[in-house]
Amino acid sequence: MSAQKFTRRQVIATTSAGTLGALISHPFTTIGDNNTNKLAILGGDKIHKGEWPEWPIWNREAEKEITEMLRSGKWWRGNGEHVTTFEQKYAELMGAKHCLATASGTTALLVALHVLGVDAGDEVLVSPFTFIASYNAIFMNKALPVFVDTDPETFLMDTSKIENKITDRSSAILPVHIYGLPVDMDSVNEIAKKHNLAVIEDACQAWLGEYKGKKTGTLGDLGCFSFQNSKNLPTGEGGAILGNNDEIMDRCYSFHNCGRPYKSVKRTSDYPTRGSNRRMQQFQAIMLLSQMNRILKDADVRQKNAQYLDKKLSEIPGIIPYKLASGATRSAYHMYPFRYVAKEFNNVSKEKFMAALRAEGIPCNGGYGPQNKDGLIEEALNSKGYKRLFSEKRLKQWREENHLPGNDQLCKEAVIFYQSILLGSKNDMDDIVNAITKIYENRDQLTG
Ligand SMILES: Cc1ncc(COP(=O)(O)O)c(C=O)c1O
Repeated sequence: MSAQKFTRRQVIATTSAGTLGALISHPFTTIGDNNTNKLAILGGDKIHKGEWPEWPIWNREAEKEITEMLRSGKWWRGNGEHVTTFEQKYAELMGAKHCLATASGTTALLVALHVLGVDAGDEVLVSPFTFIASYNAIFMNKALPVFVDTDPETFLMDTSKIENKITDRSSAILPVHIYGLPVDMDSVNEIAKKHNLAVIEDACQAWLGEYKGKKTGTLGDLGCFSFQNSKNLPTGEGGAILGNNDEIMDRCYSFHNCGRPYKSVKRTSDYPTRGSNRRMQQFQAIMLLSQMNRILKDADVRQKNAQYLDKKLSEIPGIIPYKLASGATRSAYHMYPFRYVAKEFNNVSKEKFMAALRAEGIPCNGGYGPQNKDGLIEEALNSKGYKRLFSEKRLKQWREENHLPGNDQLCKEAVIFYQSILLGSKNDMDDIVNAITKIYENRDQLTG
């Protein structure tokens, strides 16, 4: 780190909202040389010159067990103990009675939706600000995803807008704890109870998130998780369902195992119920188990850094960090999200802002697009099956109501940092703050 950079870091990172104005009236030219003050996208020095933590983190502990398992030929869950051990440990960590490991987060959602009775011709209320799998899983069950608009402040389903989207076909609510931010689950559960709807939490990005002190994914009827490569607890591909109801979880087990009998799913025949193969493999479980010791510590580091960013970034005009929903006590920080308000930056576009930030050495991206307008939706609604299952009138109404101003606004404004950035040092966090401050102060250098 150069002395010059250190000087500026100290100056900016300790700058409060009150002094930002003063700093703006005495711009960077008074602090460093011209090249330092020039935005990196225009050829100036970049703020962050080092590396960021890599992800995933390979764990040597897993090597021995994976080799042994490989040599044993006991690769599927039916002839080894690793998957069951992981299920026990994950349930314990999250405070759930049961865990069922699955092949992926998508398969966890497919199993949960089926077992909770989401059937052909049903409707499921879901957040549009999510990874496409949340509503692809609804389509795979031949049900209709009904989007509830997003609250741009929380990045989450606006629970005050759920009720007026309920119809006599509604069978479930699928709130998504996106980026690890917990949805206001009391509100969701209350509405679900009143209208007799199942609640499936998409906690695929929310390991160790907390709502009123309880873990996300344990608050609805079933909670679904992903352990895909990018996730905070990764194993290439993998997933899990958490639940507290014995009978429902027995049905999940049976369904994920080709419909074979399991405990309360009695053997009336070899395959008493429909099902498919959604099982987790042994090697996936070994990799997960090898990381269990680290995840609590990682979560604390992410939270500490995120809270630091919350404070510092909110002091910069036009930068609005996420707000925790009512009742949320801890985010799982799969991403660190904030909103970029272009008009505070001389109407420099979000894309230009992000390019400038990346040039300063800070990786970022723009989050989800308005996926409620994605091509797959019309492809589904125009399919033979959907035309049979839903009346022309209902599909017309669905299209008319597919206007989500809150979500559209958020898609335009959202900027996110990936979780491994939050595993960096305090100096790294200062670099983020300094880079955004530098762009803000030199916004006149950017156009378009
Ligand atoms: C919100 C959300 N739901 C569902 C999924 C699907 O999980 P998987 O990729 O493990 O199938 C993901 C994965 O990224 C996700 O982020």
